[in-house]
Amino acid sequence: MKLFWVKRLLRISTVVVTLLLLQRTNAAIPDCDYYDTVNISAAQKLPNGSYLFEGLLVPANLTAEYEFTILPDDSKQKVDKHIRGCVCQLKPCVRFCCPHNHIMDMNVCAGDMTEEELEVLDPFLNVTLDDGSVVRRHFKKELIVQWDLPMSCDGMFSLDNREKTDQYTLFENGSFFRHHDRVTLNKREYCLQHLTFVDGNESSIRIAPHNCLISPSRMGQTVVMITSLVCMVLTITVYLFVKKLQNLHGKCFMCYMVCLFMAYLLLLLNLWQMSQNFCITAGFLGYFFVMAAFLWLSVISLHLWNTFSGSAHNANRFLSEHRFLAYNTYAWGMAVVLTGITYLADKVVENEDWNPRMGFGGHCWICSVFSIINSPKLVSHALLLWPDGISYCI
Ligand SMILES: *[C@@H]1O[C@H](CO)[C@@H](O)[C@H](O)[C@H]1NC(C)=O
Ligand SMILES: *[C@@H]1O[C@H](CO)[C@@H](O)[C@H](O)[C@H]1NC(C)=O
Ligand SMILES: *[C@@H]1O[C@H](CO)[C@@H](O)[C@H](O)[C@H]1NC(C)=O
Ligand SMILES: *[C@@H]1O[C@H](CO)[C@@H](O)[C@H](O)[C@H]1NC(C)=O
Ligand SMILES: *[C@@H]1O[C@H](CO)[C@@H](O)[C@H](O)[C@H]1NC(C)=O
Ligand SMILES: *[C@@H]1O[C@H](CO)[C@@H](O)[C@H](O)[C@H]1NC(C)=O
Repeated sequence: MKLFWVKRLLRISTVVVTLLLLQRTNAAIPDCDYYDTVNISAAQKLPNGSYLFEGLLVPANLTAEYEFTILPDDSKQKVDKHIRGCVCQLKPCVRFCCPHNHIMDMNVCAGDMTEEELEVLDPFLNVTLDDGSVVRRHFKKELIVQWDLPMSCDGMFSLDNREKTDQYTLFENGSFFRHHDRVTLNKREYCLQHLTFVDGNESSIRIAPHNCLISPSRMGQTVVMITSLVCMVLTITVYLFVKKLQNLHGKCFMCYMVCLFMAYLLLLLNLWQMSQNFCITAGFLGYFFVMAAFLWLSVISLHLWNTFSGSAHNANRFLSEHRFLAYNTYAWGMAVVLTGITYLADKVVENEDWNPRMGFGGHCWICSVFSIINSPKLVSHALLLWPDGISYCI
């Protein structure tokens, strides 16, 4: 909770400071949302102050010099001085993720399209007008492509409108309506880009929308995790102080609790991006403790089975003296081995689907397990998002 307020205060003070700094250099276009503007520095300037941008005449009073960009949370970030025009008030715009001739791959911009790709490109978009009619619009000739606007998230997924669950409506004013969960997104929360669609043998390139991953609220997750952590500490304390509980089973259970505690702690740090300084280490530690927790769980199962089946195997008799030591060797040792293999895979494996990609995209956790299931379906994404840290790199 405290942390939340500290972050809040920090953010508020940053905004205040930025606003104070910007007072002197304030030069925004009046009555124009930043997300309706385009960088028109490259446009031709006419003698009377107007600009000719891609064949569109932008009057001088709809242009201004900007030294900042507005982030989706309304804070400002300093950038180089450039001219922006409120172009979307003159002509409908379309919000792209990257420059107009780039193609998306694995939900990130993958650079210019090749000649062959440009040939099979379908440049038309279905735009819904205010009266509800749907029209086809050429993305470059009939619309203004906006692409240098900041996005409110790093992780995105694409929608495939051949799927029933991925239907959407794109309005002329830039609103985007996702049918499946009836959510309306603005230009801060979605973008469009060329994407390859595979249809049996044939592949085509069409313009597809990309949305931010739907993640459960961070506050909710934090409350749940902190509650779990407190309960774990209480459990461990009880086991530490009550002598009667310190039998073999109790000791194994304490080890399990410690592993779980560490795994949750690292997950929590990752959630609040507090493990950035030791990101990769945190990722491997998290993996180690999750694995160790599962191994201790298996030790506890074995021990219970031994206890209740009552039979004393030869091996058991041999081990009885050093059983806790043997359990420790097994659980921690296997966890070390598994972490070692993962470390090697992280270094050696080149195939993205099989590489653990520890620390990928600023998320200090392993991520390859889920990226294998790289389905574009909305439902599968929504479901996959539950195991928080793990899901970010789809
Ligand atoms: C604006 O556009 C110009 C010309 O294309 C480019 O050189 C400049 O870096 C852009 N500025 C920003 C802040 O994007
Ligand atoms: C500026 O000049 C252009 C071309 O010379 C002209 O079309 C436009 O109407 C002028 N704008 C104003 C506000 O005078
Ligand atoms: C911009 O200038 C034009 C004529 O020069 C005027 O008709 C228009 O109302 C002005 N727009 C704004 C937002 O001031
Ligand atoms: C536009 O609609 C047509 C017909 O419904 C569809 O075949 C086409 O794929 C759509 N285009 C895009 C880019 O979604
Ligand atoms: C855009 O148009 C749609 C449909 O007409 C409407 O529902 C939506 O509120 C509009 N959005 C904005 C930001 O005006
Ligand atoms: C796909 O390719 C196979 C073999 O190249 C061919 O037999 C089949 O007819 C193709 N299917 C379509 C829909 O083109």
